[in-house]
Amino acid sequence: MTLRAQPESPESTLCGLGLRRPLLDELLAQPAGRIGFLELAPDNWIGVGGKRFEALQQLRADHPIYCHGLSLSLGGPEPFDHDYLRGLRGFLDELQTPLYSEHLSYCSDEGQLYDLMPIPFTDEAVRHVAARISEVQDALGRRLAVENISYYAAPFQAMAEIDFINAVLAEADCDLLLDVNNIHVNSINHGYDALGFLQALPAGRVRGIHVAGHFVEAVDLRIDSHGAAVIDPVWNLLAAAYDHCGLQPTLLERDFNFPPIAELLDELDTIARLQHEHLQRVATRRTVTAHARCA
Ligand SMILES: [Fe+2]
Repeated sequence: MTLRAQPESPESTLCGLGLRRPLLDELLAQPAGRIGFLELAPDNWIGVGGKRFEALQQLRADHPIYCHGLSLSLGGPEPFDHDYLRGLRGFLDELQTPLYSEHLSYCSDEGQLYDLMPIPFTDEAVRHVAARISEVQDALGRRLAVENISYYAAPFQAMAEIDFINAVLAEADCDLLLDVNNIHVNSINHGYDALGFLQALPAGRVRGIHVAGHFVEAVDLRIDSHGAAVIDPVWNLLAAAYDHCGLQPTLLERDFNFPPIAELLDELDTIARLQHEHLQRVATRRTVTAHARCA
């Protein structure tokens, strides 16, 4: 494997947690700096007032707020609601969010489907979703990072998933939010090599990483639940992701079945350890290369 040697920015070493309502009190109780950033779904926070708004104001004083959308339906057939996009742009500007991401999926078709559905892997769909990503980037005045999703029932596939993702990224000229748990889950459910898939993604477009736990339904079926601790194969894939694309702000996704906050903080410490080990590997390679030049 090639280790990506690049100058690491302070932001690239951030380890974050999802801003979820059941965690609000415990997040507010953490000392500044314990959690590197928080990520929220704008869909759940735009227009919110009262105590939740006050809590968000308190938290944003100590944490960069990353935003991860749920309902844009990038691959969907219906025109975007530009009133919503204007409101979203104002929300992202107000929070000065370092990264806005959405799922490479669709979730509406003559109404909300309440799920993130996989887009058919076809040339026509590449052109369709890339044009819509460009429309969103223009409307929001910022680059969009799209996330590789987990999926179960595979739609029509004229090309491989990896080719579909890479074609969309190139045609839309957008960024990638790399979810290593989704790669692991899909690799088991759809029978492919997770590491090979990861290494075929364009390292230069990655702007953030998600890591999460999942539910083991059967030996050949994993459910992307975000409701359990991260398992070793996913940690190993995160380490490989750092070697592939350098350090990136990394979010631990936990959406239900919340353990004591100390367990989530332990998982953030694991992320920090993997980042440190990556930097050690890069430093060792540089030393070996320098010695080889002098020999
Ligand atoms: Fe994710």
